[in-house]
Amino acid sequence: MPHTIALVGGTGPEGRGLALRFAMAGHRVIIGSRQADRGASVAAELAASLPSADLTGASNEAAVAEADVVVVVVPYEAHRPTLEGLRDELNGKLVVDGVVPVRFERGPRPVDVPAGSATEEAAEILPDSTVVGAFHNLAADVLLDPDRAVDADVLITGNDAEAKATVSRLAEQISGARAVDAGPLRFSRFVEGLTILLIGINGRYRAHSSVRISGLEVAR
Ligand SMILES: NC(=O)c1ccc[n+]([C@@H]2O[C@H](COP(=O)([O-])OP(=O)(O)OC[C@H]3O[C@@H](n4cnc5c(N)ncnc54)[C@H](OP(=O)(O)O)[C@@H]3O)[C@@H](O)[C@H]2O)c1
Repeated sequence: MPHTIALVGGTGPEGRGLALRFAMAGHRVIIGSRQADRGASVAAELAASLPSADLTGASNEAAVAEADVVVVVVPYEAHRPTLEGLRDELNGKLVVDGVVPVRFERGPRPVDVPAGSATEEAAEILPDSTVVGAFHNLAADVLLDPDRAVDADVLITGNDAEAKATVSRLAEQISGARAVDAGPLRFSRFVEGLTILLIGINGRYRAHSSVRISGLEVAR
């Protein structure tokens, strides 16, 4: 079933990359921004390479209002204020959090999140939304190359089985991606932390690495 997917903070590399992949899968995609015209110009830029795509831009508020699935891809420092500002618009919606609590000081370092993880923080801020964690470990540079398979597992956390199934289907529409149920929201800290490890590996190997979980063939 095609969704209308809003990307909050969708003008950054991760939002652009996911927008491109969701549009390629046939979903209606709205790139959200603090400035509607910036959202529109980023969407137009992406749509130019994908003429059949339903890909537009808007303010974060307008994008969320139109969507049934909202993917949050802002820097961690913007996470709480952004979600608090959009709380009413996000009521009743499926919110997919892809935010990594990381700061850079001579390399990537974890930010201590009192809730345990950005995804759990989102669930605390948005009690009337269904929050799922996903897409943290997919590198923007790879997502942005439409001819490249991502060769990655998408680790999905959440407490709502139906919402996780919806996000799994979205993840598996990205070429080369496999969805893996990574457990309840309380495991989100490990998934988010993996990205910090990957950023360090990327620096040392000049790569855009991701993760694969082995040994699942029998279990799935
Ligand atoms: N880049 C990657 O490869 C990658 C991979 C995995 C996960 N992630 C995670 O995905 C998230 C987005 O990554 P990114 O590299 O795309 O980030 P980014 O470029 O730093 O930020 C994304 C967008 O967030 C908005 N934003 C920036 N500061 C803000 C603020 N103070 N308040 C509200 N909105 C603000 C901006 O959009 P407007 O100015 O248009 O509002 C910006 O274009 C991060 O949490 C990151 O850790 C990134």
